[in-house]
Amino acid sequence: MAKEARIIIGEKEYKCPVITGTEGENAIDTRSLRADSGYITFDEGYGNTGSCQSDVTFIDGEKGILRYRGYPIDELAERSNFVETAYLIIYGELPTREQLQGFSSRLTHHAAVPVNMEHFFEGYPAHSHPMAILSGLINSLSCFYPEFAVNNHKADLENFDEVASAALSKVRTIAAMSYRMSQGLPYIYPRKDLNYAENFLHMMFTEPYAKHVPSPEISKALNLILLLHADHEQNCSTSTVRMVASSEANLFASVAAGICALWGPLHGGANMAVIRMLESIHAEGDDGSTFIKDAKSGKKRLMGFGHRVYKNYDPRAKIIGRVCEEVLEKLGIDDPLLNIARHLEKAALEDDYFVSRKLYPNVDFYSGIIMRAVGIPMNMFTVMFAIGRMPGWIANWKEVASHPQGRIYRPRQIYIGENQREYVPMDKR
Ligand code: CMC
Repeated sequence: MAKEARIIIGEKEYKCPVITGTEGENAIDTRSLRADSGYITFDEGYGNTGSCQSDVTFIDGEKGILRYRGYPIDELAERSNFVETAYLIIYGELPTREQLQGFSSRLTHHAAVPVNMEHFFEGYPAHSHPMAILSGLINSLSCFYPEFAVNNHKADLENFDEVASAALSKVRTIAAMSYRMSQGLPYIYPRKDLNYAENFLHMMFTEPYAKHVPSPEISKALNLILLLHADHEQNCSTSTVRMVASSEANLFASVAAGICALWGPLHGGANMAVIRMLESIHAEGDDGSTFIKDAKSGKKRLMGFGHRVYKNYDPRAKIIGRVCEEVLEKLGIDDPLLNIARHLEKAALEDDYFVSRKLYPNVDFYSGIIMRAVGIPMNMFTVMFAIGRMPGWIANWKEVASHPQGRIYRPRQIYIGENQREYVPMDKR
């Protein structure tokens, strides 16, 4: 028998159906509650609200499980690569050889940005944050490809293969160009013969007089970082993408909004914040012990720790922590920040403050240390997260755009302001 929930308000009882997901997650469907009772549900920050049904990513935060389209993250990290995983996330299935070739060719075809776009970079001050440039320029792609950005879901879905490849490929090129601009360096064009991660490193670090050839360890590490960030269900940026998409905005506009949401230090900006934290601990000669005390007293926040959903180890953090050790060892790098990070992790995992609040390392705790080893400058860390998250944003945009009964996302609120009052003329205020 189908389950139902009963909500009793005063003397009246309201029946709400129960929805169960394929992994047994239950939700009370309150969609008709306001119409039936006049009441809405209140859940500031949406910590207990399912905003959609999705078949892209499954997370069980209590058990530390993350799966893209049913495939466990550790298996994908071991056996797949970023482009194949991006295909899986966007299209729902692992690609056949032909499908992967077609997808890779589209990515190559879309790698360059329109020449006119280069002038945009000249207008930005050199110290501009690359996240601001990235969101602005990704949105501007709609001006160069108006046929992909009709702002009509049906029409935009007709060009989905092209627009998805354009967003996924150009985000990497724009990111590299914003770095080159900030350094006063000439832009480097993408190459056909390089894979996704290698091409990015080439566009970042090749000079007109010297080719940059990354070591296999470095391109593998970057590939892994991108793969581990590829989707993470209804986080702040992905929910933003869905929200914008629900107004029937095109894919470029929707993912540009996702980039803005990602910028903040509580979300994608945490990887920069972790390195800043580790650097300041190092500069003060602390091994992390004083910092842990300050974090417990609320004076500081242990960046890279804690997660809204994971109340167990973030599975991505486990993989990244292990790879971080391997990469640094292979490259012969002795980074003092890694020692501090290890000490912080150990101290926190033994401390009742963190244990009782179920605060564990998240994906950002070690990713910054790998990116430093790869040579990515710190203000590009969040940009790397944005490149990695693009497949998830695209897949979520597609879900919203393809929804047969899609409605605009429009939460309600509980108003706590002034009651109606009369306008006060200037001289009486
Ligand atoms: N350091 C110290 N205390 C913490 C931390 C932390 N990093 N995170 C949470 N707490 C405490 C918090 O003060 C609260 O304590 P109390 O119950 O005494 O008030 C308790 O733990 C519960 O925290 P919360 O603020 O309710 O947790 P939240 O779900 O709202 O926030 C979070 C999640 C990720 C924003 C938060 O843990 C945080 O700020 N972490 C540091 C920033 C960070 O690493 N962000 C990256 C997240 S993973 C990448 C991504 O998916 O975007």
